[in-house]
Amino acid sequence: MKILILNGPNLNMLGTREPEVYGTRTLSDIMTELKTLAVDQSIEIEHFQSNEEGVLVTRIQESHSVYDGIIFNPGAYTHTSIALLDALRASKCPCIEVHLSNIHNREPFRRRSFTAQACIGQICGLGPIGYRLALTALREMHDTKGTCR
Ligand code: DQA
Repeated sequence: MKILILNGPNLNMLGTREPEVYGTRTLSDIMTELKTLAVDQSIEIEHFQSNEEGVLVTRIQESHSVYDGIIFNPGAYTHTSIALLDALRASKCPCIEVHLSNIHNREPFRRRSFTAQACIGQICGLGPIGYRLALTALREMHDTKGTCR
């Protein structure tokens, strides 16, 4: 089983970026821990971060037939990007949206997610645990259902 972890804009700044909201762990810390969990579950994961919308669109387009699922934190593009929504719909790859913060108890503009409309589910507000839960969910769903491969 192969999963793509996609992180959008400003997530490369974790650790120093608004630590009161996003915590003090870096993206690299979070991904290293996720990799350990993936190895334990015999899942191969690939991680990709970009600050650019088009680059994320292309990466999603290329995911079809390559991955069994995507875990996606689109950052601020969550709330603005119809291009990412369309890319997710076109890819047919099961995707779980993850947010470190609880997007529902912050500014009102964060409550709307375009990208979640093409996802099988969304996890938010649980910090890095969200990525781990998403990995476990995709694993269990893969064992019981078809995938995009
Ligand atoms: C975020 C929430 C978004 O609203 C914000 O723009 C981010 C991070 C999160 O992980 O909590 O960049 O996706």
